Amino acid sequence: MLKIISFLIFLSATTIFSQQENKLIIYPDSGKYTISRDIYGQFSEHLGRCIYGGIWVGENSSTPNTRGIRNDIVKALKEIKIPNLRWPGGCFADGYHWKDGIGPKDKRPKIINTNWGGVTEDNSFGTHEFMDFCEQVGCEPVICGNVGSGTVKEMSDWVEYMTSDAINPITDLRKKNGREKPWKVKFWGVGNESWGCGGIMDAQFYSNILGKYSFFVKNYGNNILYKIASGGLEEDYNWTETLMKKWSKTDGWLQNYMSGYSLHYYTVCHDWAHKGSATDFNEADWITSLSKTQRMDTLINKHSAIMDKYDPEKKIGLIVDEWGNWFDVEPGTNPGFLYQQNTLRDAMVAAINLDIFNAHCSRVKMANIAQMVNVLQSLILTDKEKMILTPTYYVFDLYKVHHDATFLPFNLVSEDYSYGGKKISSLYATASRDSSGLIHVSITNVNPEKKEKVSCNIAGVTAKQITGKILTSDKMQDHNTFDDPNKINIKDFSGFQIDGDNILIDMPSKSIITLEIKD
Ligand code: AHR
Repeated sequence: MLKIISFLIFLSATTIFSQQENKLIIYPDSGKYTISRDIYGQFSEHLGRCIYGGIWVGENSSTPNTRGIRNDIVKALKEIKIPNLRWPGGCFADGYHWKDGIGPKDKRPKIINTNWGGVTEDNSFGTHEFMDFCEQVGCEPVICGNVGSGTVKEMSDWVEYMTSDAINPITDLRKKNGREKPWKVKFWGVGNESWGCGGIMDAQFYSNILGKYSFFVKNYGNNILYKIASGGLEEDYNWTETLMKKWSKTDGWLQNYMSGYSLHYYTVCHDWAHKGSATDFNEADWITSLSKTQRMDTLINKHSAIMDKYDPEKKIGLIVDEWGNWFDVEPGTNPGFLYQQNTLRDAMVAAINLDIFNAHCSRVKMANIAQMVNVLQSLILTDKEKMILTPTYYVFDLYKVHHDATFLPFNLVSEDYSYGGKKISSLYATASRDSSGLIHVSITNVNPEKKEKVSCNIAGVTAKQITGKILTSDKMQDHNTFDDPNKINIKDFSGFQIDGDNILIDMPSKSIITLEIKD
């Protein structure tokens, strides 16, 4: 049985075709929307070893660092051009009081991280250190403000401290702490998961609070804030309806109260009580993770439909600021630290999610994988001075060519992949054209046992030169370890040939490729 995946209705399309081949037809002249590079954003929380050990080792560490920040991490993130980084949480954000994290380190209060393991948070990584990290990496900060346990004044002071150049006590304090010029901070979260760890609010209550917070966080100089409202729990469409109805108007006083609307969705293989192992899994778990990931498309479609009703011009962005696989923690590690390994299955889940976000790029303006280092579906794992790059990192590397490129609509006719009573498509894709005119096509074959031949046609385009890269491995469970850090990484790919107007591609089983095509 073959299926067509349409760029209009992405994964849910089920038109049956009679051809006995996988076919990808790309329409290079129909591209209307840009794939925002912010879709490739990251998330870092004061959770486990994400900040402490993962990013921050302190100036006196034997791990090579610049002003306390690991040099190896900075280098790896620059390589994949991460566009933005969300901080300080997550759940941690709604308990975080930013003034605890400024000024001389020996005077900063030590507090308990009540969300994550009850460990001591010494606040040695605060606003200045975070901004230094963003500047070293060359990415934009995405700050999530405290609505749950903070105050309106506390949040408005933080914005003023960071972005104002005016003469006033709060900017003097910043200067006293070593930063003369204000920073540029565009993205500002107004709370996190306000339905849950951000304060257990209901939609109407949060909607009222959003107005108050948004009104008092001001734009200073030419720093125009992009305010991201907390969304409801996954399928809480009433939350979306309530906020869109109230805050999507763009006239007069109501302007720019909500620039973005947040959605969180994690792929949980089994259930929240027994999420399953990140590395010790079988083919039934493999297809379960991949098929549950496709729920992201359904959620985006349904939330977008409500957003379209109130904001047909798509001015408000859907911000998927937490996504990824959530497995049981690695045996022997602190359960509050959410440390998990990362296999080829994670790479597949990353690719499918990125394909979904790219296909919805007219509405999805940012996404942040949870989380960047040492927590959940990480791009990077560290062990003291050692660092490894995960299969998920390599997907971000393969996909960086799509940053700010024009999304090219396509139809994908794909074989089914079935196992244990579940059935999904074998193939997933993204196609884009960058500002220099190059076309990039990424294709994933999730079938762990079967190669797929794909005939790719770029309507009206004859490829003159093609280069390819691939991420694959022998086993579904393969992953990089500190003893074997290069088991999975990107290799050159030459399994394609130009046949007139078609490109014939031999996709190995469980593989992700990106082709660069010159016409
Ligand atoms: O990423 C881990 C946690 O998951 C975040 O802190 C929270 O926002 C979500 O529930």
